[in-house]
Amino acid sequence: MKPLHKIIINKDTSFNPIWIMRQAGRYLPEFREIRKKNSDFINLCLNDDLSSEITLQPIKRFDLDAAIIFSDILMLPYGLGQKVEFEKNFGPRLGKLNLNEISKIDEIDFVEKIHRVYKAVKKVSTNPNLNDKNIIGFVGAPWTLLVYMINQQSPKKNLKKDFFKDNFLINRILLIIERFLKVHIKNQIDNGANIIQIFDSWAGLLEEKDLPNYIYTPTLNLVNFVKSLNVPVICFPREIKNYKEFCDIVKPDAISIDYNVDPKKILKDIKIPIQGGLDPKILLTDYDNLKKEAFKYLEIFKDHPYIFNLGHGILPETDPIMVENIIKIVKNY
Ligand code: CP3
Repeated sequence: MKPLHKIIINKDTSFNPIWIMRQAGRYLPEFREIRKKNSDFINLCLNDDLSSEITLQPIKRFDLDAAIIFSDILMLPYGLGQKVEFEKNFGPRLGKLNLNEISKIDEIDFVEKIHRVYKAVKKVSTNPNLNDKNIIGFVGAPWTLLVYMINQQSPKKNLKKDFFKDNFLINRILLIIERFLKVHIKNQIDNGANIIQIFDSWAGLLEEKDLPNYIYTPTLNLVNFVKSLNVPVICFPREIKNYKEFCDIVKPDAISIDYNVDPKKILKDIKIPIQGGLDPKILLTDYDNLKKEAFKYLEIFKDHPYIFNLGHGILPETDPIMVENIIKIVKNY
C-alpha cells in the first residue's frame, strides 16, 4: 500500500509520510533553469516531457512520499477557452469571461486543449522509480476558480466590488466549472493519479452565509464524484473559519489545514486524517527552529493519522537544504 493511502484509508498512526505543497517549483534551481527557457507557463504545463521532468525534480533530490503533477489549477479556465497568462511579479492574468463562448465548449474540445497534462500524469505514474509513492492529481475548488475567472487576477485580500452583482452569470459559471472539473479529475485518475487534492485557496474570502452555495454544495458534489471513482480526496479550504463544519458537511477523506489553524483545537474537533499546517516561513529560519516547530505538529498528532506538509505552498526563497532538513526531522521522529 502507498504511504498516503496507509494514513487516509488504514488510519495508520505509526508513521508520518511527507510531501510539500508546490514541491516542484521556483525554490529549485533545476526548475528555474527550465523555466528560464520557457517563458510561457501554460505551454510549459502542456509540454509533457518537461512537466513530467519537473514533477520528478523534487523526488530525485528528496525522500518525499508523493509526487504532485506539475500543472496549475488555472488549466481549467484555459481548457474552457478563457485566456490565461502568468506575468512575472504579478501572477495570473485572465482574459474577459464570455459566458456564450464558454457554454459552447464540450468535453472533447476541453480534453483536446489540455490532454498533455494527462500524458504527463501517465508518464509519471508509469515511472518504476515511483512505485512506492503516491501520485497526486489536483484541481482548484469551484469557488477559487470562480474567483479567478470573474476577478481575472488574484483577489489578494479583496474581491472586485461588484463581484456578486450578476447572480445568473455566477451560478451558470459555477455549474460549468463543476462539470469540467469532473472531466479533469476523471482523466487524471484514468492516467494514474491515486489521490486527488482540491485546493480552495480563497475559501477564507467568503462570509458564512455564502458558504453553502459557493463552497459546501459544489465541493461536496466533487468529493462524492472522486469517492465514486474509489480514490481518496483531500480538501484544502484555506483560511475557512470553520474547518469542523466544512468536514461535517463535505466529508473529504482527509483535510489539509493552513498555518492559522490551532492544531490542538482541530485535533479535538475533527476525526478524519489531517495534513499540513506548518507555516512555510519557518523554512526561512534555521534548523533548530524548524525542528521545534515541526515537533509541535508531530507531537500533537502523534496518535492521529497525519500527513506532514506545510500550511500553504513552499516559498520561492526557501533554501532546498531546509527541505532536506524537514524531511529528515519527520522521518526520524
Ligand atoms: O508542485 C506543485 O505543488 C504542483 C504544481 C502546482 C502549481 N500551482 C504550479 C505553479 C500546484 C498544485 C498549483 C496550485 C495553484 N495554482 C493554486 C492553489 C494553491 C495555492 O497556492 O493557493 C493556485 C491559487 C494557483 C494559481 C497560481 N499559479 C498563482 C496565483 C500563481 C502565481 C503566484 C505564484 O505562486 O507563483 C501561479 C503560478 C505557478 N503555479 C507557479 C508554479 C510552480 C510559479 C510559476 C513561475 O515559475 O512563475
